[in-house]
Parts: sequence; C-alpha cells; structure tokens
Amino acid sequence: MDSIVVGLQWGDEGKGKVVQKLSRSHKWIVRFSGGPNAGHTVYHGNTKMVHHLLPSGTNENFLFISRGTLVDLETLNSEIKEISKIYPDIKERLFVSPYCRVITPIEKWQDGAIEKTKGKNSVGTTGRGIGPTVSNDANRVGIRLFDLFDQNHLKEKVDLLAEISNFGDQSIADELLSQFEKIKDRVLDPKVEGQILFEGTQGIMLDPMYGTYPYVTSTPTIPSFAFYGSGLKSEKYEVWGVFKAYTTRVGSGPFPTEIFGEAGDDLRKRGSEFGATTGRPRRCGWIDFPQLEYASNVSNVDHLVMTKSDVLNGLEKVGVCISYDKKIIPYDLGSLKPTIEYVKGWKNLESSEFADFISAIEHHVRRRIKYVSYGPSEEEIFQR
Ligand code: IMP
Ligand code: MG
Repeated sequence: MDSIVVGLQWGDEGKGKVVQKLSRSHKWIVRFSGGPNAGHTVYHGNTKMVHHLLPSGTNENFLFISRGTLVDLETLNSEIKEISKIYPDIKERLFVSPYCRVITPIEKWQDGAIEKTKGKNSVGTTGRGIGPTVSNDANRVGIRLFDLFDQNHLKEKVDLLAEISNFGDQSIADELLSQFEKIKDRVLDPKVEGQILFEGTQGIMLDPMYGTYPYVTSTPTIPSFAFYGSGLKSEKYEVWGVFKAYTTRVGSGPFPTEIFGEAGDDLRKRGSEFGATTGRPRRCGWIDFPQLEYASNVSNVDHLVMTKSDVLNGLEKVGVCISYDKKIIPYDLGSLKPTIEYVKGWKNLESSEFADFISAIEHHVRRRIKYVSYGPSEEEIFQR
C-alpha cells in the first residue's frame, strides 16, 4: 500500500523521522509540496541531516522531488553534496521534475521586503522566498526548471521577472545556470513503479486553504495535494498524521494552547524546540485535542503517529486542551477560549498515566495511534 505522511499541527512534528521509518516498506519517497522552508531532521546512522529538499529516504529508496515542490538550486546542490558522503550513489536514485518552480534571489528578496512592509502583521516566514515564488508563478512570470535548459529563453524570463519586481541585479540568470549545470542530468520525470510514500511538509494548520490564514505557508499541506502536486496516482493508500505530544509553532498567528513564561521556556528546552531551518525558538504549548481532531478530519487521516512523547517524561502534570468555547474555525482560532485540563504526568512510557494519555487522545481524535516515537533515531519508535 502507498502512504501519505502529513503533519497535524504547525510543522516540526517529526515527519522526517517517521518517513524514514516507513520508507523501509516503500520504494519511492516523493516530495509534492513545500520547498526549502521545510527542515526534516533525519539520522542516517549517527549522522544527523536536515532535509530541506531531499526526500527523507535511505539508500534503499528512489527519491522524487515532484512538480508541487519549490526548488532552490543552491540548497538542493549543497544537500546532495552532504548526503553523498553517506549514500555515494544518491544522484542515480534522485529525480527532479522539470515542472518544479524555481526560487530565485528575486523571490527571497521579495519575501523579506513584504515581511518588512507588513511590520507587526508579518507572518514570520522562513525567508526562503516561498510565498513570492508561488505568487510570481500564479502571475505567470515565475521560473520553472524546464526554462533553464535554454539560456536565452531563461535570460528573457529573468529579465521580465526582475522588471516586474523592480529588482536591479543582472547576474541572476548566470547564477541559476551554473547551479543548474550540477543537477541538470537529474531533471526528469521518472516512471514511478512500486510502493510510494508521499512526504508532506509543514502542517495542516499551515495549509493556505485549511490553516490559520493569513498565518500560513503558500503551498498546500493537505494529503489530497499529494496527487495534484506529484501527478502520480495510487490504487490504495493510507494517510499517516504525525503530531507531537505537545504543540509548537514558529512564526506569527493564533496558538490557543501556547504556554508563556518560564513553563514555556522549560518545554522549549526539554524538547530542543529551535527551528531546523531558521534556528528560531519555537513557541510551545500543550496538546490540543479539538485542533488535532480538526486537522485529522480535513485531511482524512487513517492512523496517528505521536512523536517526542519522551519529552514530557517526569512532568508532574501535563496540560491538554479538551474543548473550546466555540466550534473550531481555523482563521478565528485566536478568539477561541480553550479549556485546559491537567492530567497526571508519567515517569516513563511504561507508566499507566502515559497509557491514559494515549487513550484520551485516541478517544477525542477518534483514531488509533499506531506508532509512538520517543527519540530522534529510527529505532526509537514502537508500534501499537
Ligand atoms: P513560509 O513557508 O516560509 O512562507 O512561512 C510561512 C509560515 O509557515 C511561517 O509561520 C513559518 O514559520 C511557517 N513554516 C514554514 N515552513 C515550516 C516548517 O517546515 N516547519 C514549521 N513552520 C514552518
Ligand atoms: Mg521542521
């Protein structure tokens, strides 16, 4: 069976590690959305790697960056260089769709400029040029990878994009072409056969249509986009919804169960909650049942996977949001009043209090937790 792995919160749920675990029973690992704003941390043996663009597979997989993904060529090349030290034949197993949208220095500059103009209303983007790349593409002035096969055509397109964006620098086309040279032979749509794992990015609450708009990312994060974004089909698939035993968010926007002050700092320290892409401290809060239920429903999740369960070990009490005063409306999350209850903490994952915590989640979210992850390495996970 094929799989789609998505994050049920605001990103950083540990999808990379879960994808690595599930990758063992799939041939293809396919990225279909997001771009270098993602940061999936994966341990290959003892080597820690943050995957921004490369799918989180291993040397047993074929990797496909399909057309729904936004590509920053410099990031991609440096990631390939790094992972080649672990998997020397990686390039032979990697395919990048020629239809991928290319992030240029123009979009990265626009990202910063737009955020600055927004001032106190800024989204707190990762600064990777995601939003402007999507909007330039929608305006039909964006660059696609296939544009780079023809130098003169590319120069024309870059000139137009620069003119429309009031961007002065003339050297962009040459820079893009020299990066493209290194990856050119892998830019093709492969024939995909065998089991596929579609690797989602960010989280459902950051989806531009289903999340906390306008504090969202710019490419869809919901599982149905796996097919539109990749152009692939699946006869039979299951959707895995990954979430942390608590909640985090980077950037601005509503976060009903956020914990401020010392308790928030403590959770951040315990979970090492600092952004894998930007290094920013993540906002931390308790687990939020109505939010998880909402995200699971809009993405038709089949199974749940809970990560970072061990981070809460030893806490005297653990907060859980069990309801809001109103029906959950994502764009209006900021005005909802959460009811937070405190359950007894657990010493370790064998404790009965932890079993109760799991049951409460399964009851509220109305789905089974199939895997519980309790550490960064591939082995630190158990099946239920
Ligand atoms: P952008 O995707 O860089 O435009 O950022 C939009 C919002 O999504 C910001 O709040 C970012 O912090 C957040 N975001 C984007 N990518 C990730 C991610 O991979 N993990 C967590 N948050 C993310
Ligand atoms: Mg991340």
